[in-house]
Amino acid sequence: MTSAKRLAAEKAIEYVEAGSIIGVGTGSTVAHFIEALGRMRDRIKGAVSSSEQSSELLRSAGIEIHDLNATGPLALYVDGADECDPHKRLIKGGGGALTREKIIAEASARFVCIVDPSKQVDVLGRFPLPVEVIPMARSLVAREILAMTRAQPVWRQDANERGVVTDNGNLILDIHGMSITDPVALESALNQIPGVVAVGLFARRPADIVIVGGEPPQIL
Ligand code: 5RP
Repeated sequence: MTSAKRLAAEKAIEYVEAGSIIGVGTGSTVAHFIEALGRMRDRIKGAVSSSEQSSELLRSAGIEIHDLNATGPLALYVDGADECDPHKRLIKGGGGALTREKIIAEASARFVCIVDPSKQVDVLGRFPLPVEVIPMARSLVAREILAMTRAQPVWRQDANERGVVTDNGNLILDIHGMSITDPVALESALNQIPGVVAVGLFARRPADIVIVGGEPPQIL
């Protein structure tokens, strides 16, 4: 049986315009999208990548990678999510690529989010909210998050208990135990803490279209 992630990713190909440069997110759902994009690589100009992981997949698929500074605004950004609410607001950053993902989403006219049905929630927050922080500010930001939200920030570590380092050389705090009733306000408040690089809430700039994988895929 074809997975819901793959079904969502393959549907997203319909939004790709010939001759364009596509913004590409990160994660297992996006990996299916890159695979499908590879099959039409001769009909696109290339991609702007949100992570080293996606860049590797794009290169293996024979897709040229462009620098966002050189491309200017993009017509389309395709990415997955960890949670999606009915207003197409998202939690992202489970794969640690939230900052570059947010930059490309902001630079794109249309953000198509591809998810499987398990990502749909009424209220964001069951998935721990990732926040990318400058290393020297880790403890400061954690204390301020705790004071502000009363929820628990946890330093993301790998299996060897070493801090996970992002592609930008920073660390991640995952905020556990929140029910985010006003995502726009929380995104803006967390962004004010010195040392925060990016917050994995995509509420001020939500997705424009959400494709939920299934047979047939659902377009929201
Ligand atoms: C990476 C992300 C991913 O889009 C998110 O974690 C979903 O991943 P997957 O498609 O593997 O479920 O935000 O930073």
